[in-house]
Amino acid sequence: MAHTYVEVQQAVAAIREKTARVPRVGIILGSGLGSLADELEDATVIPYEAIPGFPRSTVYGHRGELAIGLLGGTPVVVMRGRFHFYEGYDMHQVTLPVRVMHALGCTTLIATNAAGGLRADWPVGELMCITDHIFMPGLAGHNPLRGANDDRLGVRFPPMLNAYTPELRALAQRVARAQGVTLQEGVYIMVAGPSFETGAELRMCQRLGADVVGMSTAPEVIVAAHAGMQVLAISLVTNQALPDGTPANHEEVMEAGAAARPRFGGLLKGIVAAL
Ligand code: HPA
Repeated sequence: MAHTYVEVQQAVAAIREKTARVPRVGIILGSGLGSLADELEDATVIPYEAIPGFPRSTVYGHRGELAIGLLGGTPVVVMRGRFHFYEGYDMHQVTLPVRVMHALGCTTLIATNAAGGLRADWPVGELMCITDHIFMPGLAGHNPLRGANDDRLGVRFPPMLNAYTPELRALAQRVARAQGVTLQEGVYIMVAGPSFETGAELRMCQRLGADVVGMSTAPEVIVAAHAGMQVLAISLVTNQALPDGTPANHEEVMEAGAAARPRFGGLLKGIVAAL
């Protein structure tokens, strides 16, 4: 879509007015994880309102700003708060920031999210490196690449096998081991939300082969892969999402995010330093 390209260029121009730093890695911080952005050195912080085309983040717990600075010496751009389909944005709006990250110079995307654990043997607080996804809204027609393709942004029919870059997954495991952090691996299933899943839906997710369930990430990963970016994505199990368990709520998701922050933050920093 030609207007997407123009939109991306306008956002990049607005950001370039505030900083000349060229980020190599784009990082999306999920629910309850936003404060990792405070750890950037020499950061330029730009509220989403100041970036043309960026919608406003409406969810409690997701502050809306872009921070560009250094993380362990590596130039990065961090999204503090992302846009979700359930907020009413279309997939084009949800994924625009990833295209902007790529246009700013990022060759790697690191996405994080809060997710419900579908496995009884994984406690709250478990970290999982995403090996693959099942994108329910995408399969049902809400793919962010739907519509005319602009070849400047990527090819019409991009492959998604190995969208979660195997080398980055191996690197993440090496860093986790060195830090003594357990990093599980598994499949993320994205649902549209915002209601949490019924018992039957959770059973369906389990039977489809998913290990965690969440309401984000898959659209951003598709757009990153479309742009030729390398992708790493890590879920934090903020609640168990089991058909016979207790109902999920947003507060426990935020609390689990806060509790995991030092461990998750240390892992992310270590990964960026090892890139
Ligand atoms: N379901 C869907 N999305 C989520 C959950 C969940 O249980 N927890 C955090 N995000």
